[in-house]
Amino acid sequence: MDFAAEIENLKKEKNAVLLVHNYQIAEVQEVADFLGDSLGLARKAKESNSDLIVFAGVDFMAETAKILNPDKKVVITSQEACCPMAGMLSKQQLLDAKKAHPDAQVVLYVNSSGECKALADSCCTSANADKIVNAMDSKEVIFGPDRNLAHFVQKRTEKKIVTVPEDGYCYVHEVIELPALEVAVERHHNAKIIVHPECPPDVQKRADHIASTSGMVRLAKELPDKEFIIGTEVGMLHRLRKENPEKKFFPAFENAVCRQMKKTSLEDVYLSLKEERFEVNVRDEIRAGALKAINRMLELSV
Ligand code: 13P
Ligand code: SF4
Repeated sequence: MDFAAEIENLKKEKNAVLLVHNYQIAEVQEVADFLGDSLGLARKAKESNSDLIVFAGVDFMAETAKILNPDKKVVITSQEACCPMAGMLSKQQLLDAKKAHPDAQVVLYVNSSGECKALADSCCTSANADKIVNAMDSKEVIFGPDRNLAHFVQKRTEKKIVTVPEDGYCYVHEVIELPALEVAVERHHNAKIIVHPECPPDVQKRADHIASTSGMVRLAKELPDKEFIIGTEVGMLHRLRKENPEKKFFPAFENAVCRQMKKTSLEDVYLSLKEERFEVNVRDEIRAGALKAINRMLELSV
């Protein structure tokens, strides 16, 4: 079966929109209506006037789309696409941190559960984390669950960042270690280094630029350089190469693969559209609080 053609037919027939994250496999990226980072896809979900939103990404992204669109059907292309980092922060840990720091406001990375978001003052993504933290009224900000993104923010704010949990991380970016990056630099010494803020602090320090996945797309276009070393999930390279055929892109570490992002095949996208599987639902009592935190982020990051 020509899945790509069937997907296009089903999108029209069902007035559906297909939102795809930058880390998805190349074939899935090719059928996207919108391809982007967490922030861009949340914005597209909010603007959408489709009847059906199909999300090829991971659980917290599809959940965010549902929170923004309670009256629409939202489906995720794989039931197994669950971001392990989002599961590293529990509601109880967050309540304990709030109790220990009663004057602190809470900014949570969108890579978190709906029930934690409902306790936050604002969400953030890797594209706007420093901006959102600096917009808070308090001197202390509780921030989680990624300790590396927390480090990135701490370098860009006068506020005191309280990281919760202390040791939250993304296993994909954690393996992009400095020695691996140095090997890539030795091979491509003219290349500019762009890394994601989920990378370890010493890798961030070594980089020329630190950016979200869509920030990388923008930098690759705008910078005059012809070669780049990219420190993030390797799915990102497809888009960068496709959109900049005259430039060269090398992975900082080629085993940086998000297994959860790779659960979705083209056939899964087709089946998601055809059978409207797997539906995403968010309990009402969580939705209202989480919506406030997501909307605050969207307002603050215009
Ligand atoms: P972006 O928002 O930069 O796309 O990052 C999402 C993510 O899951 C990074 O690991
Ligand atoms: Fe989660 Fe890391 Fe995969 Fe992003 S790359 S979805 S943070 S596990």
